[in-house]
Amino acid sequence: MNPVDLRLLPDTSAVSPDGSLSIGGCSVVDLAAQYGTPLFVYDEAHLRARCREAVDTFGHGRAVYATKAFLCGAMARLAHEEGMLLDVASGGELFVALHAGVPADSLTVHGNNKSLAELRMALTAGVRHIVVDSFDELDRLDALHAEGLPVPKVLARITPGVHAHTHEFIATGQDDSKFGFNLGNGDAHRAIDRMRRSPSVQLEGVHCHIGSNVFEASNFAKAAEVMASFAIPLDLPELVLGGGLGVAYVEGEEAPTITQWGNVLLDACEALGVRSSVSVEPGRSIVASAAITVYEVGTVKQIPGVRTYVSVDGGMSDNPRPVLYGSGYEAFLPRDVRAGRPSRARLVGKHCESGDVLIFDAALPADLRVGDLLATPVTGAYGHSMASNYNKLTRPPVVFVRDGEHRLVVRRETYEDLVSCDVD
Ligand SMILES: Cc1ncc(COP(=O)(O)O)c(C=O)c1O
Repeated sequence: MNPVDLRLLPDTSAVSPDGSLSIGGCSVVDLAAQYGTPLFVYDEAHLRARCREAVDTFGHGRAVYATKAFLCGAMARLAHEEGMLLDVASGGELFVALHAGVPADSLTVHGNNKSLAELRMALTAGVRHIVVDSFDELDRLDALHAEGLPVPKVLARITPGVHAHTHEFIATGQDDSKFGFNLGNGDAHRAIDRMRRSPSVQLEGVHCHIGSNVFEASNFAKAAEVMASFAIPLDLPELVLGGGLGVAYVEGEEAPTITQWGNVLLDACEALGVRSSVSVEPGRSIVASAAITVYEVGTVKQIPGVRTYVSVDGGMSDNPRPVLYGSGYEAFLPRDVRAGRPSRARLVGKHCESGDVLIFDAALPADLRVGDLLATPVTGAYGHSMASNYNKLTRPPVVFVRDGEHRLVVRRETYEDLVSCDVD
């Protein structure tokens, strides 16, 4: 029945006297009319505030934005301007960050299977850190050293054996993981020994990331404890505790703030006697609730005694999270934000797949009709960045809004883009 919880909306959201939504002083209905739907609308003040909160909490040079959550030139520059370093997890992310003008020495390179070409690119650019994930990667770094490439500063990714309370696909700190050197079976110690003796790398510290969308502070405290016990005797300058802070997606969810998360981690490290510089890599908590996605309703199909399906003009191609992880979302009418939501329906996209669901059991306003704009909040992380062209849908544009101004930072793909890689 309840209207959408306004706390799920971006910071500068405001409800106009006519009940419609504005973000950053811009009417969402007008933005949809100008840019079309589906459309990602990001609140720039919100993004900047979260970056600053991370830098204020952890210190300059200790807050690294995980670009996988949302990356384009404008976002890379914004995070850099606000004093964050950036983490990239592929040659493509590295290319986009460098192309945006972010200096290489502000970049950390991740990946459980970095190719020789990606490592060569990182070494040639002169990135700040490479997070080494495997013995095979160390072999590749030896080969690049033999080629005469510069010796990189590296961190060793450790799998601490901590099981985070989150979806299996985004839990990464447990023993059964494709990531990192296992602490429990001795691989972590063997990797550190090899890196310390290797002329191909300069070992600067250790790294862990236990998973994503984690709400329980105790999970982070546990990882900090395990990593601290491992790191203290090594006496290395850097300890990186990853990202993973959860955000509220639906009514009733509560997540720690970046400041609260920081206090848990930093207090735990201090209590344990960590002398290294402690840094983190938040992605979701910086960008998720900064954005909404605006769709247009195309069909409403009632099946008496079964359910109602409401279809919008996007779907799993702009937000695969419900299909991948069963993630929940809310929906509301930008023209009438305070409308009660007494109707129930399955909110689906336009893909040729029954699994193309955005909200399995959505609470919706009773007067929802074909042609309405419908928005889903908290879509700023792992939405645009995980978007696909399935069914040859064109990926939606991204608009940044701030102080009554809006600017297109990523244009909508065109049908021409869809054939631009065809060579025959
Ligand atoms: C190594 C690493 N760091 C940081 C992150 C960002 O996590 P989140 O977006 O949950 O903060 C991830 C996400 O998977 C990751 O793998």
